[in-house]
Amino acid sequence: MGMKFHLSATIKLSKPASKEVISKEIENFNAQLTEKQVDARIEKWDVLENNLNIEIVSGTKRRAHDILLNFRNILSKNLGKKYKIGVRKIDVNFYEVTFSLEKEPLQPVTIPFADLEIDGKNVRMILKDTSEEFLRKNYVDRMIKRVIEKVENQYYEGKKEFWKLIWKSEEKEPVWNKDPTEEMLKRGWLVQGPTKGKWFYRPQAAAIFRAMERIAIEEILKPLGFQEVIESHIVPFEIWLRTGHLEGMPGEIYYVCEPKTRDVKEWERFIDLVKITREVPEEELKKTVSVPRAGICYAQCPVIYWSLRGRTIADESLPLLIFDRTAISGRYESGGRHGIERVDEFHRIEPVYIGKPEQLIELRKKLIERYKHVFNDIFEIEWRMAWVTPWYLQQAGKTDVGEHYGEGVIGTIDFEAWLPYRGDRKNSKWLEFQNLSILGDKYVKAFNIKAQKGELWSGCTGIGLERWMAVFLAQKGLDPENWPEGFRKYLDKLPEGIKIL
Ligand code: SER
Ligand code: ZN
Repeated sequence: MGMKFHLSATIKLSKPASKEVISKEIENFNAQLTEKQVDARIEKWDVLENNLNIEIVSGTKRRAHDILLNFRNILSKNLGKKYKIGVRKIDVNFYEVTFSLEKEPLQPVTIPFADLEIDGKNVRMILKDTSEEFLRKNYVDRMIKRVIEKVENQYYEGKKEFWKLIWKSEEKEPVWNKDPTEEMLKRGWLVQGPTKGKWFYRPQAAAIFRAMERIAIEEILKPLGFQEVIESHIVPFEIWLRTGHLEGMPGEIYYVCEPKTRDVKEWERFIDLVKITREVPEEELKKTVSVPRAGICYAQCPVIYWSLRGRTIADESLPLLIFDRTAISGRYESGGRHGIERVDEFHRIEPVYIGKPEQLIELRKKLIERYKHVFNDIFEIEWRMAWVTPWYLQQAGKTDVGEHYGEGVIGTIDFEAWLPYRGDRKNSKWLEFQNLSILGDKYVKAFNIKAQKGELWSGCTGIGLERWMAVFLAQKGLDPENWPEGFRKYLDKLPEGIKIL
């Protein structure tokens, strides 16, 4: 793809310089570029008193602004030494990048810091911010990438996601076809939570929920040798900058603010207003809390990787098998909420594995065996497995993930179960109640985690306890009498609960 950078700038000198001197400098500089086979040069120039005006044109090898900064340094050295002329500052008068797209945009495209003129597949990007600091930070390249990405995304919007069946269980006759959340609400086992998409589990529901947790630990994690860790569920943005969640999911994060200070004096007016009005003084609150620099856990694995950042894991610890069941996840779901299966706050056990590629491939086989044991022999549910668009691409906002992703060694397997209350098994949408991924070196690289030697991979397999509960109850009902033997070993009788008048 052809790319052209065209920049015009004024270099302010401390004293006037003669045309001959400048001419020599520019000739030498251009000659050097040619010698190094850089497709860039100072095309035009003139000098008026203290002002040296230059125009730089470059191709893809080096950026015009990079050439400008480079030239400024050389000029400053040479003029200073020989003529005692200093270089005061540079003003960029005009900076334009032209490049071409693979496909014409379907809708208008905009980008911060520049005006875009798009004619068919040809883009002119005229930079609005041309301060030296801006140029130095090399935003220009990322802006070009972002424009290309935005146009590509327009083509993927609404495209079907990748899905390929791997395995399915035999058909199982469900004991009912009711929505378990509705039924639990009617029986008073469950109460809508105090804020959107949250639930309060009364003893009966809590007992089922904890049975799910025990099954996951006893039947999957312990037999495979996973060790428990405990992580924080407040995640600073630095972590999500590395994983891509901040650009991928900004609209789903529950943001966390810290108070600006603990000093009671600073909170005095806030307290007064609360006491007098019995309302939350929001305007005052804005003054006393900081802008968020963190959010509530979205997935547990990023913090686990962060905890090992920059470290080398000893061979004897590989494959490293750990899990967190402490951090609670928050996802702002807006329209999609439903029952206990689609919520803004959920509890997940997240096993994470880091090891050699062959160790992880072996582990995946064992994990699938254990999952099959739980879902076939303990839950006795109807379910299936499919290769899907890897979650780490989705969560990093990669909407350009069509049918060409997934399946194979690296990728995500979703576990889906039939929810009879949604309709018949053929035509209704099944619920993803479990996933399993091998991510290659994506996160170990992002957090610079190393092995003593050779390649290191990682992966995770989130066990969503609400989801486990939702699929089990949707097929097996709320009556322990109807539950399979294997499950009743974990929970045979429900607690009495709370009698409410
Ligand atoms: N990190 C995964 C997810 O968010 C869970 O394993 O789906
Ligand atoms: Zn994960």
